[in-house]
Amino acid sequence: MYNFDQEINRYHTNSIKYDQADENVIPMWVADMDFETLPEVKEALIKRASHGIFGYASVEDDYYESVISWMKRRHDLDIQKDWITTTCGVVSAIKLAIRAYTKENDAILIMKPVYYPFDISIQTNHRKKIEFPLDLIEDHYECNTTKLEKSIKENQVKMVILCNPHNPIGKVYTKDELIQIGNICKKYHVIVVSDEIHQDFIYKGNKHIPFYLADDSFKEFSILCTAPSKTFNLAALQTSNIIIANKELRTLYLEEKQKSGINDPNIFGLEAAKAAYQYGEQWLDELIDYLQGNIDAMREYLHEYLPELKMLIPQGTYLVWLDMRALGLSHEELEKFMLNEAHLMLDEGYIFGKEGAGFERINIACTRKTLMKALNQLYLAVQKLKK
Ligand SMILES: Cc1ncc(COP(=O)(O)O)c(C=O)c1O
Repeated sequence: MYNFDQEINRYHTNSIKYDQADENVIPMWVADMDFETLPEVKEALIKRASHGIFGYASVEDDYYESVISWMKRRHDLDIQKDWITTTCGVVSAIKLAIRAYTKENDAILIMKPVYYPFDISIQTNHRKKIEFPLDLIEDHYECNTTKLEKSIKENQVKMVILCNPHNPIGKVYTKDELIQIGNICKKYHVIVVSDEIHQDFIYKGNKHIPFYLADDSFKEFSILCTAPSKTFNLAALQTSNIIIANKELRTLYLEEKQKSGINDPNIFGLEAAKAAYQYGEQWLDELIDYLQGNIDAMREYLHEYLPELKMLIPQGTYLVWLDMRALGLSHEELEKFMLNEAHLMLDEGYIFGKEGAGFERINIACTRKTLMKALNQLYLAVQKLKK
């Protein structure tokens, strides 16, 4: 049994999450976890570090085999070695894909509210951003595919960046939804970049369907962005696996990767990923149970003490999308309220798109104790606000 209740001080460890926050607030914003990774990963890194020579590294067969085996074991997806290319992160990979498959001013569609680096990646590459709002229907979001088709057609969209599981709303797309979205993209010759970095965090009653598995023909016009970074808390090791089945798309991608200059793999990232994929299954299963416990505890707490706040129960990811519009605060007021009154540092909903105003994204990958402390602080702040 792994102990996810262990409190580990993360201050002064070059942690964006902790070191950008005052010590009197609880940081629950950027998507990394407060949990130590599995012991085998630590051991692999220590072993490699103790060698003492860190010259140029190559990606060897055992690395590819670990990725192939993980995708098969956890997601029932068969991939081939030459489909995999490593990059130093999924955001970098998305930027590369944008440059490889589209031209300046081409239209790229994203489904809002969504992880904000998608916007930045499109804008900094001078492509045209098409924002497609998902519909909030009571406690979940849906993609209206009639409207999606209209938007793709009218805007002559060349690329869709899909987020599955979807950050910040915790949605896991069903096979049927993916088939509908994919068929529209196929019809209008749209490239799909499917960001599946949260693929390994899926809760009871849901199933992650890699875009390639929704329909075999989708391999022809899409790429999958995966990584061990979220799953095993390895973001700073900067290793992701981009899976490209179509040879033409692969060639364009590799050419762009060559041009970008971000070509060399990180030896520590490779070692960590290999150990994680090889030994991490039990650790991950227990982690998901723990996170499910956090989600349940949060739901019960809010139900009892803060019923005016609406929590969207995540189907995947360790991010909770909390509807706080009932407090009647503007998004500027809400941001100040969270930081100065509740003493919580969260990701404000509006940064994910205007649809997110009045929402907060809360990273619940922390100990239960920290989560309950944060909820208590929120409760006290709301009581004060009501007076
Ligand atoms: C959907 C999504 N994609 C990509 C990333 C970041 O990936 P990387 O650190 O590999 O660039 C995140 C991190 O939160 C994310 O949520």
